[in-house]
Amino acid sequence: MRFDILTLFPELFSGYVGQSLLAKAIGAQRVTIQLHNIRDWARDRHRQVDDRPFGGGPGMVFKPEPVVECVEAVQKLAGSPGHLVLLSPKGRRLDQSKVEELAGYEGLVLLCGRYEGFDQRIIDILQPDEISIGDYVLNGGEVAAMVVIDSVVRLLPGVLGDEQSAWQDSFSGERRQIEYAQYTRPREYRGHVVPDVLTSGDHSAVARWREEDSRRRTEARRAQQMEIEEG
Ligand code: ADE
Repeated sequence: MRFDILTLFPELFSGYVGQSLLAKAIGAQRVTIQLHNIRDWARDRHRQVDDRPFGGGPGMVFKPEPVVECVEAVQKLAGSPGHLVLLSPKGRRLDQSKVEELAGYEGLVLLCGRYEGFDQRIIDILQPDEISIGDYVLNGGEVAAMVVIDSVVRLLPGVLGDEQSAWQDSFSGERRQIEYAQYTRPREYRGHVVPDVLTSGDHSAVARWREEDSRRRTEARRAQQMEIEEG
């Protein structure tokens, strides 16, 4: 899968891209990541990519020309244009089913915002898939783009190594359940003891316990969420 990242801050990605799972996927040629600096498409001497909003108001707005032309150029680079995603707090909230959909594309073009936003014509012309990673405002789309890459890459066949593992994670598949609690050695730590059933060797009892623990955690989380939503 190919990721093209359009940003004013390509250097923000260097640590992330070197991280083990992603570096391995890149090494195995399952994933390619190309960074593109939007500023390279600026037209004027000062390489300006933003300007003040018509009608006044705070902040700066991305100018249409550099962004539209950068996206169009990048979409021509690969064999197929790539699905255009704009990271924005105004977008549709990312969830696991959206991640699964995104993992089905041959390529994603991830457009990262900064400033107060984009000139509306960028959105009208390019018709991107607008995605938010949550109802809060980040300083830019870069961290959100990393979230998208991270959640998508681990679904690609062969990337996780153990294919079961992605499937069993919280929110995968049909059930959308929270995962059961996991333990490893030691059996006791600071007075906290691993549930006996997990060390019993009784596989069906373990399976039942996990099912029940998962159900309990899912219900507790939902109740907590409802409380928050009801204020
Ligand atoms: N850019 C700024 N805030 C964002 C958010 N919550 N999700 C995606 N992109 C963003």
